[in-house]
Amino acid sequence: MDRSGVSQRLAEAGQAHLLQFWDVLSPEEQKELHRDLKEMDFKEINGFFKSAMEISSSSKHEKMDTRMEPVPRDVLGSVTRDRDSVRDWEDAGLLCISQNKVAALLLAGGQGTRLGVSYPKGMYDVGLPSHKTLFQIQAERILKLQDLAEKKHKTKCCIPWYIMTSGRTMDSTEEFFSNHNYFGLDKEKVVFFQQGMLPAMDYNGKIILESKSKLSMAPDGNGGLYRALERQKILQKMQQRGIECIHVYCVDNILVKVADPAFIGFCVQKRADCGAKVVEKTNPTEAVGVVCKVDGHYQVVEYSEITLATAEKRSSDGRLAFNAGNVANHFFSFSFLKDIVQKYEPQLQHHVAQKKIPYVNETGAVIKPDKPNGIKMEKFVFDIFQFANTFVVYEVLREDEFSPLKNADSQESKDTPTTARHALMSLHHRWVLNAGGHFIDENGRHVPAIPSLKDGTDLPIKCEISPLVSYGGEGLEDLVKGKEFHPTLTIDESGVHQLVKNGV
Ligand code: UTP
Repeated sequence: MDRSGVSQRLAEAGQAHLLQFWDVLSPEEQKELHRDLKEMDFKEINGFFKSAMEISSSSKHEKMDTRMEPVPRDVLGSVTRDRDSVRDWEDAGLLCISQNKVAALLLAGGQGTRLGVSYPKGMYDVGLPSHKTLFQIQAERILKLQDLAEKKHKTKCCIPWYIMTSGRTMDSTEEFFSNHNYFGLDKEKVVFFQQGMLPAMDYNGKIILESKSKLSMAPDGNGGLYRALERQKILQKMQQRGIECIHVYCVDNILVKVADPAFIGFCVQKRADCGAKVVEKTNPTEAVGVVCKVDGHYQVVEYSEITLATAEKRSSDGRLAFNAGNVANHFFSFSFLKDIVQKYEPQLQHHVAQKKIPYVNETGAVIKPDKPNGIKMEKFVFDIFQFANTFVVYEVLREDEFSPLKNADSQESKDTPTTARHALMSLHHRWVLNAGGHFIDENGRHVPAIPSLKDGTDLPIKCEISPLVSYGGEGLEDLVKGKEFHPTLTIDESGVHQLVKNGV
């Protein structure tokens, strides 16, 4: 073990403190620490720290307001305002899928700190009647979409699924898929790859030790995607398969329409390099980033970067002027993604997230700080909008497509397992109503379509439809039209099931 080489590099980089406990470590711990340090490029890390801190302090003072313009109508597609075109877009997307040109790319490298479970978020069960996990729901949506494209175009097809994990989630994710037989997907078409990790640093740029022999490491943000694609040669794999369109999305949105054909068809018809799915921001103070133009280039502007006056600005139709709420759900053409990975990635800057980072003090005791004591550095997946020549925005309904799982039920009331579960069941309730079915209560009375809030019965009807039966509400008439159901209603490949009272 060449410790002196590492010590010298550490000393040169101002990180010599990382070896302060060397003499008290066991040989095994020394070996592991040495291995971790040997692999690190301290010069690069110090450079990341310097520029991230510079950008973070300059952006604190500068508000974006005067440089911003809303998304122009001509690049915008909307499921509500362009209702007549949605079917065409969907057909165009299904055609691409049937031609094996579409891939789904899942961002699943996050740590899920707020949810507070020790396993990857995709393995979470939000308590649906079926107890399906987020991974299973997404896998089944892919299966169903393949089936829809195959039936329409009478040809076999496949949507390969690229799954980005991190050092912390890779093994358990792969094991979970393997234990569940890839949820019926072709194993060869599910490709796992790992994003990079970066050390957490204190405000002086010193890497933090989480124990005497271990650096505090975190994934480098969902924008770590681009570097990971390059390093793990994923683009070559896509190219060999003839992939032309990539749908990138986050693991935690229970309503996500994986490889949404309408979104893909819209982007393809517009000949877009890059597309962003958005939901309407309706409350000016909602802490959501908005897609807009800044100095003529598209980007996401965070709520903290604008004044309240700008956040409250309204267009002539009464909607917020800056209302394109980013949900990290994107379309990339293959050639655009290739350009990003091969040309533009180094231009992306890390963002600074101030965090409470557990550390060891000089005596070797582990301290859990009660206020932020350092930073994690992250790139964001949407920071590449600026490089697109043809950028489009696709607006969908929040209640149909976006309900992220971020927090534990015990901690928050927003974006929790309960809100995710309710969002899915409420969507499926509406699918049943749209297909001509009805729900009745225990007294045989019709349950109103919009539940009354007066008596506190704002809980959704318990209703779950397997993605293997319906991808987006289609194909349900034969099963439900003109029929009355008691909740809990579940519809899966084996048929329609009702569990009256105290059911699931
Ligand atoms: P979030 O930023 O909400 O992070 O990720 P998170 O890890 O899920 O949760 P917290 O903040 O630790 O509580 C949004 C999406 O980006 C992915 C996540 O897996 C999620 O799909 N992500 C995040 C990555 O793939 N890599 C990262 O480094 C960070």
